This record gives sequence, C-alpha cells and structure tokens, in this order.
Amino acid sequence: MSNIDGWRRTHGCGELCAADIGKEVVICGWVHNWRDHGGVIFIDLRDRSGISQLVFNPAADAKMGEEAAGLRHEYVAAVKGTVAPRPQNMINPKMKTGEIEIHASNLKLINASETPPFQINDPDAALSEELRLRYRYLDLRRPALQQNIIFRHNVTMQVRKYMWENGFVEIETPVLMKSTPEGARDFLVPSRVNKGKFYALPQSPQTYKQILMVSGFERYFQIARCFRDEDLRADRQPEFTQIDAELSFVDEEDIYGIFEGMMKYVFKNCLDIDIPTPFQRMTYKEALFTYGSDKPDLRFGLPIQDVTENFAESQFKVFRSVIDSGGKIAAVNADSCGDFTRKTIDGLTSLVGRYGAKGLVWFRVTDAGLDGPSVKFLSDVEMSNIRRQVSAKTGDMIFVIADKEKTCFTAMGQLRLEIARLKNLISGKEFNFLWVTEFPLFELSEEQNRYTSVHHPFTAPMKEDLELLAGGQYYKARSRAYDLVINGTEAGGGSIRIHDSNVQRRIFDLLGISREEAREKFGFLLKALSFGAPPHAGLAFGLDRLVMLMLGLDSIRDVIPFPKTTTGLSLMDNAPDFVSAEQLAELGIKINE
Ligand code: AMO
Ligand code: AMP
Repeated sequence: MSNIDGWRRTHGCGELCAADIGKEVVICGWVHNWRDHGGVIFIDLRDRSGISQLVFNPAADAKMGEEAAGLRHEYVAAVKGTVAPRPQNMINPKMKTGEIEIHASNLKLINASETPPFQINDPDAALSEELRLRYRYLDLRRPALQQNIIFRHNVTMQVRKYMWENGFVEIETPVLMKSTPEGARDFLVPSRVNKGKFYALPQSPQTYKQILMVSGFERYFQIARCFRDEDLRADRQPEFTQIDAELSFVDEEDIYGIFEGMMKYVFKNCLDIDIPTPFQRMTYKEALFTYGSDKPDLRFGLPIQDVTENFAESQFKVFRSVIDSGGKIAAVNADSCGDFTRKTIDGLTSLVGRYGAKGLVWFRVTDAGLDGPSVKFLSDVEMSNIRRQVSAKTGDMIFVIADKEKTCFTAMGQLRLEIARLKNLISGKEFNFLWVTEFPLFELSEEQNRYTSVHHPFTAPMKEDLELLAGGQYYKARSRAYDLVINGTEAGGGSIRIHDSNVQRRIFDLLGISREEAREKFGFLLKALSFGAPPHAGLAFGLDRLVMLMLGLDSIRDVIPFPKTTTGLSLMDNAPDFVSAEQLAELGIKINE
C-alpha cells in the first residue's frame, strides 16, 4: 500500500465493511461531505473505491477536532482510525460501507481546495454541460462519471482478451496518413518538412488494415482513434474510438459468428448479462420499408405498412398527386393512441416535417369507423381496407404519410420512434441486437449529384448482383456490407472487401473516380491488392457508442473523458486555438481573414 507522509494507506474508502470492525486503518481521499453535529464532526471521505464515514470527537482530542471542523468540500486528507459499527439508526444498507464508521484518532490535512464551481457529491444536480466540460477534472471526480470511465476500461480489456483468445494480433497504424475514403471531411495536418503537403488524420484505419491482410497477418485488431470532420450529434464526436478488425479467408458467417461471440463475451463479463445468439438479421430493404430506418429499434413493434395500392384510385388530392408522381403511401397503426390530443398530433406533424414529409394524415379508430378531418376524402372501401391492412381496432390511431419513397418511409420511421417514446414502449433494460444486411452498394449524393459508396469503395458487391455492374442499372446492386444495430443505434459496421483488382476498377469507374484519381488516391492499395491479396473482410465497432449503449446513456460525451462540444470545442483547454505567426510561417500557411 502506498505511503502518505509517513503513513501507510491500508484500505480504499469504499472497501471497509462490517468484517473490518475493530481494525486500525489508514485511508485517504477527498472530503465528499461534512457535517458538524454540535460537537461531533462527520466527514465522508471519498476515493476511487467509494466513501467511508469518519467521526471526529473534539471532546477526546480538541486539536484534531478543530482541524476536522476546518475541512471543506474536496479538501484532501488522510485519516488514521478504528473501524466501528454504526449506531443502528444510522445504518445505510445502500452502501457497502453503510454498516461501519471510522472513529478517527489522527488527521492529516494534505491539501485544501478552492470552492468547487458545482457540487461533486450530488448525483442528481442539474449541471450545465458547459460548466462540466470547462471543469472536466472536477466533473470526472463525480462518482457516476468516474464509474463510466472505469466501465469503459473494463469493456476495452474484455475486448482485448476476447480478440487475443481468438487469434487476433493488435497492430498500430499511423495517425499521420494519406486521406481515407470513409466519406466525411478529413482533418488535415500540414507538413513543415514537405511544405504545401498535408497529412490527413485517419477517418478509420481502413486502408492499412486491408494492407495488413495482404501482408499475411490474417487476423488484425486495434482499439483505434478515428477523426472525422462532420456535423456532431449526441452519438457523434470529431474524434472517437473504434474496435477495428480485419480477417482473411472468411465470409459473412465467420464475421457474424466471431463478433456475436465478442458481444456475448463483453456483455457477460462487463454487465453479467447473457445475450442470446445468433442475432436476428434483416435486409436493408425490409428495415427501411417496415421500420423506416436502416438501424431499426426492434424493442417495440409499430410496423409500417405500404398502403399505396389501396389508394391507387384515390380522389384525395394529397394522395392523388403523390401516386401520380410515382411516390408511396405508408401507414402505421399507433396502438391505443386514439386519445392523442390535437396538440400531440400537431407535434407529430411538425416532427415528420423536419424529416421532409409535407404533412401527416390521421384517423381515430372508433366503433363507428374512422374519424378525422381527412375521412371525407376517402371511400368506404379505402377506409375498411386500411383499417384491415394495419390491423387497427377501436381506440387506435392510424397515421398516413404520402411522399417520395425515401422521405415517406424515413419520416414514418421517425414517427414510429416518437410514438414509442410517447407511449413508453421502450424498456430501458433490454438489449436488442440486429444485423442489417444487403445494403445498396451506391447512393445518390444530391450534394455532389453523383453516386457515392454507401459504405466505402472497397466493399464487395453481392455475387448475385455482379452482372448489374456491367449495365445501366448498376446503381441497383447490393453490397456485402453489414451493420450491427443495438437498440436502434448503429454500433458497428463493415463489409466483405473486394480482392479482385478488376472489380475494384469497375467500382471506381462507376463512382466516377478516374483511373488517374484512383491511382493517385488509392494507388498504394490497388498495387498491394495486385500482389496476391487474400479474400478478406472486416468490421469496426464504435467503442464510445457501445459503452454508451451498455450503460443505457443518451450521450457519448458521458463515456469519453475529454469530449468536444457539438461545435467541436474543448472547453477545458480551449482547443482549437490560434497559433503564432511564426508557426504559420514555418508551415508556409497564410490565413485568409
Ligand atoms: P463506419 O464508418 O461505419 O465504418 O464506422 C464504424 C463505427 O464507428 C462508429 N462511428 C462513430 N462514433 C462516434 N462518432 C463518430 N463521428 C462516428 N462515426 C462512426 C459507429 C460506426 O458503426 N472502416 C469502416 C469499418 C469497416 O469497413 O471495417 C468504418 O469506419 O458506431
Ligand atoms: P392540405 O390539403 O395541405 O391542407 O392537407 C390536408 C391534410 O393532409 C393535412 O392534415 C396535412 O397534414 C395532410 N398532408 C398534406 N400533405 C401530406 C402528405 N404528403 N402526406 C401525408 N399527409 C399530408
């Protein structure tokens, strides 16, 4: 045990219990709480292991009593004393140390503290995130946050153990590298020695891990830091961590088996939860058309139905115009939501509006039939059909959206999530795992007005769709990519890679990447693939997201020790910041004001 000012620390504050009664101990830590009960002073002392209650009796030792009375929040102290049982009426069964207290015989004040800007001992305090991030060192003292970080460490350790037991080699790849093709913007680092040239920070180690397969390592993994200059959200940070892996001589079934095994192992060893395998699988198409998302939350039902056919002859102008322009009509039965107020419905209408839907049609299901402002536009047959199609009963509410296919189902998917929230359909304790498969290979980027890769350009097409690549309908080809979705969040993703340089060239052609551009950007990888590349595949989990999900939290910032704000700032140390003119000159950089 460590030595403090000549004293040997014997225990952690959170370790002592009834079995230690009578022992002489030395503990140290921070003052979590202090109370002066007319003569007797109680101090809760906290270290990483937990909290112990100290009792100082000034009647027995006036000098020590005076020193103890001077202790304030977050002072650092060491105490010698005897473990004693608490009086019956002071036992706290919720704490490991709740049956004992320490009768102090000696106190050392090691360090004082300024008054903290927020309470560290109140787990329920409503703190502004700005204040928390500015004083992150104090925020990280709060037991809940500290437990998150320690839990994250446990997850990382279990991942490493599992990977090691399964023959993976942990290999580090460069952080200063050539731009990667994950599709976000790169963070760039100027080179002083090679003026005018820039390194990119890795969006992921994608190209390196494929090269490691060419080099024959067969099973690689890395807990890798990744950097993406993209718009931030609750589950997105500009720098984040992946559990990154790549394997040779495998197909989808091997990947599913190994990573289902990893989830099982990590959930068992970190949360003591047995998760059933194999995980459910669903094609991208089914996910989009039944749940309105490529990462459906399957902890509740509320499936979406395509009801376009039912309204083929509709005279309702909203439906008519959408059908005439080739769009879709989708419906969801909001089970027992017939009592939603107009205010709730208006809220839902503006929610789907944010996802592009031009409106929301709704019908209350009553004994007398459907009810709502749009019923007058529907025929009896249309009404009875839709009611049957979505299996609605009295007391339910049917919502309908008509729009372009993607907008229609995506907005419906968001509506589905919101109804589940409103009706409390999501159990916080449950974990739902789902592989989403058969993603499209390409998607139309409206911004760039061309097709881009849904995953990345090294993703193999499905064998069944190879022929499509030769013709005009190439954009309909599906890929051998897979995502692992946990509770409606994309926790991981990967793909079987292309190991045939002809197929790789064809993909680049279809993406509008010229031979020259391909050679310049990925020439090293293409070259490497031409020297006997084994068939290979891989996957990366977002470690931050995985830990967030395991702990049932809403923000990845609560599992990252030093996160950035949604505007990419580090409030504690004020990064990013300006640099001196000399530094810029040395790099040959001029800032345009
Ligand atoms: P992908 O881009 O899908 O795949 O990323 C893999 C996983 O990383 C997590 N993730 C993020 N987490 C926090 N903040 C972000 N900004 C962020 N972006 C992604 C997600 C995601 O599922 N190289 C490929 C993997 C492969 O093909 O092997 C890749 O990076 O949980
Ligand atoms: P309007 O004719 O625009 O007043 O719309 C009549 C009703 O249809 C309103 O309840 C709108 O919210 C709804 N609505 C309008 N456009 C759509 C659409 N594309 N899909 C679903 N409902 C719509």
